[in-house]
Amino acid sequence: MTGINIRLATLKKAAAHDTKDLEEHIASTQHLVEHSVKIIHQFARELRPAVLDDLGLIPALNTFMKHFGEETGIRVRLSAVAEVECVNGDERTVLYRVAQEALTNIARHAHARRADVEIQKLDGAICMTITDDGKGFQQERLFHGKKSNRLGVLGMRERVDMVKGNFTVQSAPGKGTTIRVQVPLANARGGAAENSPMESGNTKV
Ligand SMILES: Nc1ncnc2c1ncn2[C@@H]1O[C@H](COP(=O)(O)OP(=O)(O)O)[C@@H](O)[C@H]1O
Ligand SMILES: [Mg+2]
Repeated sequence: MTGINIRLATLKKAAAHDTKDLEEHIASTQHLVEHSVKIIHQFARELRPAVLDDLGLIPALNTFMKHFGEETGIRVRLSAVAEVECVNGDERTVLYRVAQEALTNIARHAHARRADVEIQKLDGAICMTITDDGKGFQQERLFHGKKSNRLGVLGMRERVDMVKGNFTVQSAPGKGTTIRVQVPLANARGGAAENSPMESGNTKV
């Protein structure tokens, strides 16, 4: 925005003198506006949706996946057990962020037709799997790529580790990709960890 403001000041000056360079200045300002719009969209996407706190994980995922399906043309399906809403705020955020990043990866890399998010209760834990029927990849190469400042697969794992969950990626070329997150239900509302002094309180990212 500061950049645009500086450009506008230059434009004003140019307009007062000669109009020769005006077209060029306007074109580069337009580029700057387009670039800023892209950045703002990215920020908006990364903002924590209010619906996650107000209505819960299932409505938040529903909203995200509906837009995702419309934008990418990938057929998405969400199936979730109601118990998932019992997990506390930190775990809820982790599940939401992992699903969001996994779906973003599907849109970016997988060339998939379908993406399924399934949330089940399994052996006293909440288990979320995100599956696609895309091109898959060689898992061995996962951690050798260029370092990225995005959330990424490493970031997903770190987030899951922070709530003492379990994270696995399963993929092979031509075989699609499955991401699985398991969050212990001991951390669920009413569980032991809820009153623990170690709990981080209102951590929301
Ligand atoms: N669902 C997927 N289908 C195909 N390839 C994937 C998928 N998810 C991740 N990958 C591969 O793993 C790599 C690492 O992903 P990630 O850590 O999210 O980094 P980034 O998305 O920034 O490249 C990707 O570059 C891509 O090659
Ligand atoms: Mg990624």
